[in-house]
Amino acid sequence: MLKKIGLALFAIFVIIQFFRIDKTNPEVIAENDFLYAVGAPEEVTQIIKTSCYDCHSNTTHYPWYSNVAPISWWLKDHINEAREELNFSEWETFEHKRKLKKLKEAVEELEEKEMPLTSYTITHGDAKLSDQQRELLINWFKETLSYFEEGETTAEEEPKSDLTLDNGKKWIANIETIDGINNMIAIIAQPMEEDRIILFVARGQQLMTEFETLVSKCNMTGEAHEQLHHYIFPLKEKIELLMNCEDMTTCDLTQLDILRHLHLFNEYFEGESLPS
Ligand code: HEC
Repeated sequence: MLKKIGLALFAIFVIIQFFRIDKTNPEVIAENDFLYAVGAPEEVTQIIKTSCYDCHSNTTHYPWYSNVAPISWWLKDHINEAREELNFSEWETFEHKRKLKKLKEAVEELEEKEMPLTSYTITHGDAKLSDQQRELLINWFKETLSYFEEGETTAEEEPKSDLTLDNGKKWIANIETIDGINNMIAIIAQPMEEDRIILFVARGQQLMTEFETLVSKCNMTGEAHEQLHHYIFPLKEKIELLMNCEDMTTCDLTQLDILRHLHLFNEYFEGESLPS
């Protein structure tokens, strides 16, 4: 009798192996990624990628036992649920309100030691957070949250800047200007080996060089040129702030602010479309 039950169970086990999970990752758009968009420092990036991204992103690495049913089903279920709650690969597609909510939840989950899930850290030792790493993440998430909240209030309180659209359409910018903006984004996207003030200051200088090239190569005229001025004046001020930042928090937040301003460019300007 026992033998029969054993055989039956084994047969079931064999049969369920044919029901494999889908392990293809959804498409990843680099610009939409959370760590990229907020310009996270290198140390934070490493920890979040190791401890959260297998579940909360579209860059999941599946372990060997993901080939074994029914563990594989359970695993896939977790990943689906985690992505639904918070998919870091799709951060830039979130509404502002949702971003705030998720940052708050991240702080809570970390404080309560709910994340990363224990069932995961048992098999992924490197994903387990030391007290120090947890502290670092909590502080960084809080900082990022207050930065996003601040952006909210200043956007409401400050008088609208002079920057406007061309009757609802974007202004045409010359290709050198667009290149310059993209180069600056690329500078900020480079991972920083170490979080040191001097490296942020050096980055500020690099940005300023790029900024000056952009200005010298600009051949835009008329109202579009006027509008570009409204755009680049605050940019210059922010870069100068970075070049003179004196503590890590200010450096970090200023860099974030610059990145946000750089991303604003595409909302007001576009390249000339090629003649068809
Ligand atoms: C093994 C997979 C896994 C890992 C690793 C993981 N999570 Fe989760 N996470 C989940 C699942 C599943 C849920 C949804 C169910 C739940 O809330 O428990 C979730 C939910 C969340 C939520 C939303 C909670 C809410 O209040 O609704 C946040 C925020 C979160 N995780 C943050 C993180 C962070 C930050 C990390 C890394 C430090 C992390 N998670 C690592 C699986 C994971």
